[in-house]
Amino acid sequence: PVYQDYFFNETAYDYHDGGYVPLEVYDAPHVPLTIPSLLKPDRETDTDVWLTVHAQSGETQILPGAKTKTWGYNQSLLGQTIVFRSGKTYHVTLKNSLPELTTFHWHGLDVPGPFIDGGCHAPIYPGEEKEITFTVNQPAATTWLHAHPCPLTGWDVWHGLATMVYVEDDHEDNLALPHNYGVDDLPIVLQDRRFHEDNQWDYDADYDPDGTAGPTALINGTVNPSFDVTTQKLRLRFLDGSNRREWRLHLSDDLVMTQIASDGGLLPEPVQMTKCMLTCAERAEVIIDFSDYKAGDQVTLYSDDTPILIFNIKDFVADDTTLPDKLAEISYPDVDPNALVHQVVLAGTDEEITINGLKFGMMRIDDRQEIGKTEYWDITNTNDCCGGMLHPYHMHGGSFQIVSRNGQAPYPNELGYKDTVAVNPGETVRIKMKFNFAGVFMYHCHIIEHEDGGMMAQMQVYTPEEPEKKYDLMAMDTL
Ligand code: C2O
Ligand code: CU
Ligand code: CU
Repeated sequence: PVYQDYFFNETAYDYHDGGYVPLEVYDAPHVPLTIPSLLKPDRETDTDVWLTVHAQSGETQILPGAKTKTWGYNQSLLGQTIVFRSGKTYHVTLKNSLPELTTFHWHGLDVPGPFIDGGCHAPIYPGEEKEITFTVNQPAATTWLHAHPCPLTGWDVWHGLATMVYVEDDHEDNLALPHNYGVDDLPIVLQDRRFHEDNQWDYDADYDPDGTAGPTALINGTVNPSFDVTTQKLRLRFLDGSNRREWRLHLSDDLVMTQIASDGGLLPEPVQMTKCMLTCAERAEVIIDFSDYKAGDQVTLYSDDTPILIFNIKDFVADDTTLPDKLAEISYPDVDPNALVHQVVLAGTDEEITINGLKFGMMRIDDRQEIGKTEYWDITNTNDCCGGMLHPYHMHGGSFQIVSRNGQAPYPNELGYKDTVAVNPGETVRIKMKFNFAGVFMYHCHIIEHEDGGMMAQMQVYTPEEPEKKYDLMAMDTL
């Protein structure tokens, strides 16, 4: 089948929010889509790789006229794309040249917490650098890196501290999928901003406790981007890197997008759809087949009714590849029937948001799970008033499997590994979660102002040897 809907409850979409900022086409010329360069390692052996991720401030020519003051990793805005190979060990120097503390959170990477994970408790102070070491051991996936200082994640990400992090492995390499970075395999970071006087951003002026948004779409930091393609297949790796916005993506002519991967890697099978909805922090990889077009044609990507990216078909090039009909084996261990079911209740809007009735406490451990055990987590969204809103629920510390939505089967494009799941109002999503590393990990709504506003909690993954291990947690008032 070709699915024709966004699956989620329309009554809860962001455009029903009182503070909703509709997307508008910015009055500026079309420019080529920016493709970030690949981050070059400082040095490498067969097994180990050393690299430096440098958070820095700068200025970026986004619009004609004045440059915009921005932050980025290894460049002035967003970042160079980081590529990890499953099985290798990485020694990453985290360097902070910003005027304030930041953290480096590996969203979607399966690494120990709380320091390597880079959440709230892993500050890198201005002028400081620190090396972390971890081994990547997970299936090929599109993950990302973003700043996560609590409660200033929204501020940091709005300034530009977010970048793509790919994991590669042999299995995915050998599938007949587009693999040519920046040519037929593109990172697509979806964000929105408001440009104020002299083309500047102003987070405080645009701040909304239910999620900060702006009217102008930025794709990889580009306003009004276009990209030249051939009629061969194109792979787009979408990341919703916005603080708040939901992206409801569709193509001109209702061209089919075949989704092949979500947050944690390949889906079991490709899913054909004409509409693809992403909430904050979710990823979707889709394949577009342009073989019915000819040189000179254009295909437009929209979010709702706003065009956000144009593909110019430059050449006809025959494509004799067929997509595999099986992509990956998704296996998640069984849950011990006697294990307790963790409960997460997301409630409220604006300043009233809570998780399990509480606001985030930096020094409080809200839940515990043993390393290596698989347990159910039930995530409930009680926002049913006035249509309610979707809360994209995210867990640090690995990927989960979605078991059910209110007892029904998950959506067809969420049968792979996930680390973020949007929960409809009045719904309980049951997930299965296993942690492979010990530590303290955050779990939260990924509308970033909800996370900063306290719709966040933390859990300790413990080992049987050290069930009460104490970590050096960072108190919020040290900020
Ligand atoms: Cu994407 Cu707690 O983070
Ligand atoms: Cu995360
Ligand atoms: Cu939320």
